[in-house]
Amino acid sequence: MTNSKYIPEEEIQRQMTLCDALYKEIHPRHLTFFVETFGCQMNVRDSETIKGILFRAGYSESESKETADLILFNTCCVRDHAEKRLMGNIGALREQKEANPALIVGICGCMMQQEGMAKKILKRFPHVSLVFGTNVVFRLPQMLAAVLGGERVALTNEEDFAIAEGLPQLRDNVRSAFVNITFGCNNYCTYCIVPFVRGRERSRSMADIRTEVEALCANGITEITLLGQNVNSYANDLEEGSFAELLTLLNDVSNLKRLRFMSSHPKDLNDDVIMAIASNSHVCHHVHLPVQSGNDTILKRMNRKYTRAQYLEIIRKLRAAVPDIEFTTDIIVGFPGETEEMFRDTLSLVEEVGFAAAFTFAYSPRVGTAAAAMHDQVPEEVKKRRLQELNALQVRKTVENNAKYIGYEGEVLIEGCDVRTDETLLYGKYPNIKMVYFPGNPDRVNTYAKVRVLRPSKNSLIGEEIDG
Ligand code: 5AD
Ligand code: SF4
Repeated sequence: MTNSKYIPEEEIQRQMTLCDALYKEIHPRHLTFFVETFGCQMNVRDSETIKGILFRAGYSESESKETADLILFNTCCVRDHAEKRLMGNIGALREQKEANPALIVGICGCMMQQEGMAKKILKRFPHVSLVFGTNVVFRLPQMLAAVLGGERVALTNEEDFAIAEGLPQLRDNVRSAFVNITFGCNNYCTYCIVPFVRGRERSRSMADIRTEVEALCANGITEITLLGQNVNSYANDLEEGSFAELLTLLNDVSNLKRLRFMSSHPKDLNDDVIMAIASNSHVCHHVHLPVQSGNDTILKRMNRKYTRAQYLEIIRKLRAAVPDIEFTTDIIVGFPGETEEMFRDTLSLVEEVGFAAAFTFAYSPRVGTAAAAMHDQVPEEVKKRRLQELNALQVRKTVENNAKYIGYEGEVLIEGCDVRTDETLLYGKYPNIKMVYFPGNPDRVNTYAKVRVLRPSKNSLIGEEIDG
C-alpha cells in the first residue's frame, strides 16, 4: 500500500488501445518523428516515453528534422533565455509546414506548464497543433488521434499529478539507462521553477522500480542511473522504504554492474545513505551534491535548509566511508543579495572540497519564484565576472584533482572513441565518474576494460588497458 496516486490501469490500457488503433493507420511505419530534447536528464527520460508511445503508434524515428512527419520540442524552463530560443525554433518550422501541410508540430515539457504559455504558443504559431505538459504524456495517443483528425490540442498537467506506470519506452542507449524513482519536488528552493512545473514529489514503489531495473538488465543494460529531483527524499510519501533501502534492494539485480543516482539534496543525505553507498558493491562512488552557494546567508535565502558547515560535514563523512569517492556539484552565482564577500565564501568552499566537476550558473530570475521578487538583484555584468572567476578556479581544481590519479587502476565502461583526433582512442568512465582516454579497438565501445592511469590531461586522464 502506498500513498502515491497512480493513473488507473484501465486508463493506461485505454490509451494503449488507441495507440494500437493508430498503428493500423500509420502502419507500416510510413510516418516518422523527430523529438528534440532540451534541459536535464528528467526531460531526456520523458522523451524516451514519448518516443516509446509514438513507436507503438506506428511511427519510426526520423534521420533528420527536415524529413520528419511529426516534430516535437520537449522544453525546459529552469534557466536562461530558453523561451526566446524556443520561439525562434518554432518560427523556423513555418516553411516546412507550408511545404508539407500534413506535418505535425508539437511542443511539450516544463515550459508548457508556465501560466498562459500553451495558449500563447497556439495563438502565435498557427502551424503548431499539439501542446502538452510534463504529466500528461500518457495521454499522447488520445492527443495524437485528435491531431491526426485535424484538431489543435493543448493539454497541460492534471491537478493531481498522478504517476503513470506501464508506458512504452524507446531508449537508444544500449549500455546505460535512466530510471525515475521520484517525480516532482517539495523543496521550493527560492530560485527554482521545478516544483511549479513538475508538481509535488511522488515516489514510485520499490517493487515497480525493481521490476523496471530487472527488465532493463535482462536486456543488456549494465549501468542504471536512478533519477529524482532529490533522490534522498525517495519514499517520504510512501508508507515504507527509503533511498538507502532502495539502493540495497537494487544492488543484487542480475547483470547490473553500476548503480548511479542523481541529484542528492544535502539536507536529506543521511548516514543510512552513506552506509548504503559504502556497503553495496555496485553503487558507484560518485555523488552529485549541489551546494549552490558557500555562504550561509545566501543558503538561507535560497531555502536550502543546510549550512556550509553541514555540507562540509557530509563530504567529510562520505570521504571517510568511501575513500575514492568523487563529488560533482551545481553552483549559482549572483543570487539576489550576494555580495563580493559572500561570493568569496563560494570560492573558498570550492577550493576546500575539490569537486571533480562543477556545473556553474549565473542566477536567472524565474517568474513566480520567491527569489525573482527579491529587491537586491545582482547586475548581469557582476554575475558574468563571478561566473568566470569561479570557472577558472574549478579548472585549476580539476587539474589538481587529476594529478592524484597517476597509477590509479579500475574498471571503465567504454562510451565511445574520439573520432576527431584518433579513431583508436577510446574513452570511458571509472565508477567514480572520472573520465579516462586510452588506446584500443573501436569495437570495444559499450564493453568494460581495466585501465591504468598514466598521466593527467586538462579535463580528463590518459591511460592504458591492463589485463588484456
Ligand atoms: N538560475 C540559475 N540556476 C538555476 N538552477 C536552477 N534554477 C536556477 C535559476 N533560476 C540551477 C541549480 C540547479 C540546477 C539544475 O540548475 O544550480 O541545481
Ligand atoms: Fe529545484 Fe530545489 Fe527542488 Fe532541486 S531541490 S528541483 S533546486 S526546488
